[in-house]
Amino acid sequence: MTGLWRRAPATALVFGVLVVPLIGMDPSQPAPSAPATPPAGEMLYLRDCASCHGEVGQGTPRGQSLQEIGPAETHYAITTGRMPIPDPGAERQRRPVDYRPEEVDALVDHMRSFLASEPDIPEVNVQSGDLAKGGELYLTHCAACHQWAGEGGALMGQEAPALHRATPTQIAEAIRSGPVAMPGYSEEVLSDHEVDSIVKYVLYLRQPEDRGGFGIWHYGPFTEGLVAWVVGVGVLTLVVLWIGERGRGEHP
Ligand code: HEC
Ligand code: HEC
Repeated sequence: MTGLWRRAPATALVFGVLVVPLIGMDPSQPAPSAPATPPAGEMLYLRDCASCHGEVGQGTPRGQSLQEIGPAETHYAITTGRMPIPDPGAERQRRPVDYRPEEVDALVDHMRSFLASEPDIPEVNVQSGDLAKGGELYLTHCAACHQWAGEGGALMGQEAPALHRATPTQIAEAIRSGPVAMPGYSEEVLSDHEVDSIVKYVLYLRQPEDRGGFGIWHYGPFTEGLVAWVVGVGVLTLVVLWIGERGRGEHP
């Protein structure tokens, strides 16, 4: 008997921790960790897109039909923040993206139920790209609109954005789908390897080493002066070191 009494506080504690919370739970309600909401992608689409594009992407007076548009362009529009636009007349531009990556995936996966199947989100393999080939293809197909260093601008009557912020996937998506005023390039025109090569070249255009190479013409006289100065000082330093070495050589 005394044993039980001695154990009483422990018994009460176990009862409190394990049993009392169960009494408070209503078995007809789902556990709080599993909320009963529609699948996330559908919910996001109905909340953020359907008012302009319709419940199954059929289009409305506020936004075009999406049924002829593939997953590549859809993923591009969402991940560059171009969609959702705040109102139908809003300027088309990059904006901060309000979705987590898994929400973007869920949204696009839901939209696949009414989107065209092609072009699909491309697999990019930048490593396998050929930089020199990419440069040639870039100058042939892209530079007329995006400027030869990827700075963008209004060229040949087209307003095209700079290319320094797009991810490899977004670059390939733009090439394959041709969003709005940009032409799309099918696999007959550019193979997957050629797309990888162009992506590699577009990434290369961002590298700071380029600024000291042929990129300097674009950055004007100040950069050229700076480069001349840095190179000049570099050469002088080498000459001084060389004289120093020679001097040491003659008088060991
Ligand atoms: C306020 C209305 C509106 C909302 C909300 C909206 N869109 Fe759009 N969407 C448009 C209009 C208008 C266009 C036509 C192209 C343009 O002017 O940008 C368009 C074009 C598109 C295109 C094809 C052209 C392109 O590459 O951008 C896609 C894909 C798209 N929208 C996806 C979406 C998705 C996904 C959502 C929700 C996350 C969404 N939109 C929300 C109005 C809207
Ligand atoms: C006829 C002009 C034109 C040509 C040619 C062209 N583009 Fe574009 N590009 C555009 C326009 C206009 C946009 C903006 C589309 C939009 O509003 O979504 C764009 C958007 C892009 C973007 C998205 C930029 C960003 O960060 O949001 C990338 C990347 C891109 N183009 C790459 C290319 C590449 C690579 C080529 C060559 C294979 C190419 N473009 C050829 C006009 C062009």
